[in-house]
Amino acid sequence: MRAFSPCPLLAFPALSATASLAAMKVSSNAQLPVLHHDSPFVQEVVQAVDALHSEFRAVDNLVARNSFRVLKAFQNARVGSHYAVANSNAYNQHFSGSTGYGHDEAGGREALDQAFAEIVGAESAIVRSQFFSGTHAITCALFAFLRPGDELLAVAGAPYDTLEEVIGKRDSHGMGSLKDFGVTYRELPLAENGGLDWDALECAVKPHTRCALIQRSCGYSWRQSLSVNDIGRAIKMIKIQNPNCLVMVDNCYGEFVEGIEPPMVGADLMAGSLIKNPGGTIAPCGGYVAGKRIWVEAAAARLSAPGLGTDCGSTPGDIMRAYFQGLYLSPQMVGEAIKGTFLIAEVMASKGFKVQPLPRASRHDTVQAVQLGNRESLLAFCEAVQRSSPVGSFTKPVAGSTPGYASEVIFADGTFIDGSTSELSCDGPLREPFAVYCQVGSIPSSEG
Ligand SMILES: Cc1ncc(COP(=O)(O)O)c(C=O)c1O
Repeated sequence: MRAFSPCPLLAFPALSATASLAAMKVSSNAQLPVLHHDSPFVQEVVQAVDALHSEFRAVDNLVARNSFRVLKAFQNARVGSHYAVANSNAYNQHFSGSTGYGHDEAGGREALDQAFAEIVGAESAIVRSQFFSGTHAITCALFAFLRPGDELLAVAGAPYDTLEEVIGKRDSHGMGSLKDFGVTYRELPLAENGGLDWDALECAVKPHTRCALIQRSCGYSWRQSLSVNDIGRAIKMIKIQNPNCLVMVDNCYGEFVEGIEPPMVGADLMAGSLIKNPGGTIAPCGGYVAGKRIWVEAAAARLSAPGLGTDCGSTPGDIMRAYFQGLYLSPQMVGEAIKGTFLIAEVMASKGFKVQPLPRASRHDTVQAVQLGNRESLLAFCEAVQRSSPVGSFTKPVAGSTPGYASEVIFADGTFIDGSTSELSCDGPLREPFAVYCQVGSIPSSEG
C-alpha cells in the first residue's frame, strides 16, 4: 500500500498561484511558497490535511478494498509472466508482445480482458491499445447498440464535448456521425442542482429509444458527477419504461472512485480510457469497453471488423506488462487523485472560489472543478501547474483548437504519458464560467 502522499499541486509554485488567484499575478518566475517548518506543505495545505483526516482515512479503506478486488481478479485470471507447466497447470507469458494479426499472442490479451471484466463486475471486456482514447471506446460502444431509426437519449445533460461530432449534435461534415446513419438524438437536461432530473427521467424513454447514455463524470460541465448507485437507480427507471433500451455509461474518470462499477448495477456497456484511471499512469495508450458479452463483441467488431471479434489485434513491445501493472496500481493512483480533489476543494473554497464538488462532499470521479471566473485566471492557473510538473516544466501551455473540441481549450499536462490525466494535470475550455478541471494523482511533492 502506498503511503499517503498529499496533493502535489498545492505544495508547488502552483499553490502560490492558487492562493493568490484573486490577485492573479502569476509571473513566469514565481517563487516557491514559504513552507511550513518540518513539512513539505504550505500553511493552507497543512491545515487542510489536518481537517481532512477522516476523508483520507475513508479513501485508504476504499483503496484497500479495490486493490483486493484487483488482486483476486489477477489471481483468478492466472496472470503470469513465465511459460511453465507444473502440476498440469500451464502458465503463460502474459507480458509478452505480439505482432501482425496478434494470432500468436501468448494469452495476455485474454487474461487481461478476463481480469478487467471480473474487476468491474462485467460478463466480458476488451482492453486494447487500438482504442485511441476514451472518445474512441465510447464511440465503438454507441455504434454497437445503435442502428438507423433508433434514438439515443443522453440522460445526464450534454455529453462530453468530443462526443458532439460522434452524435452529430455538432456537424461532423459527413464523416459518419450517428446522425449521418439515421440515429436521432435527444438530451435530458440536468436538474437545477446539477444532478439527474429524476422526474423528467421517469417518463423520458420512448419505444424507439434504443440507447440511454449516462455520463458518470462531470466532463467540462459545472455539474455533479454521478454515484454508481444513482446510475443504478437511473438504469432501473429506464428499463421499466423500455426493457429494450440499452444503457451505455461513459465511465471516464470514474473507475475505482467507488467500490462498485456500473456493470454491477445493470449497465449494458461502459467505456473509458487507459490513460485515465484504469491505466494507473503506466499504460501508454488504449481504452476499454466492458459489459454484457454480446455487446462487448459488437463493440469489438466496431473497433476492428465484423467477424474479427475480440481475438485479434497485436500489442507490440511490453505494453501488455504496462497494462497489467497499471491496472494493478490503479486503485492506489485513484486514491491519491481523490485525496488531491479533497485538498484542492478545501484550499480553493477557503480562498473564496466556487468549487465542484464541494469540500468534503463524497467523490464520484477524480475531477475537481474550480471556477476562476475569467480567461486570464484560467490561463495563469494552467501555466502555474505546467511549471510545477516534472515534464515540460519549462514550457508554457497555450490555448488552442484541439481535434474534437468546439471551444478553445488549454491543457497543462507535464505528464509522462501524453494527455494522461492521472498525474498532475489540469485543463479547461475557454468559456463561461472559466472553470479549471484538475486531476491530481501520482506526482510527489517537489519537496518530499
Ligand atoms: C466525461 C468524459 N468523457 C469522455 C472524455 C473523452 O475522453 P478522451 O479524452 O480520452 O477521448 C472525457 C475527457 O476528459 C471526459 O471527461
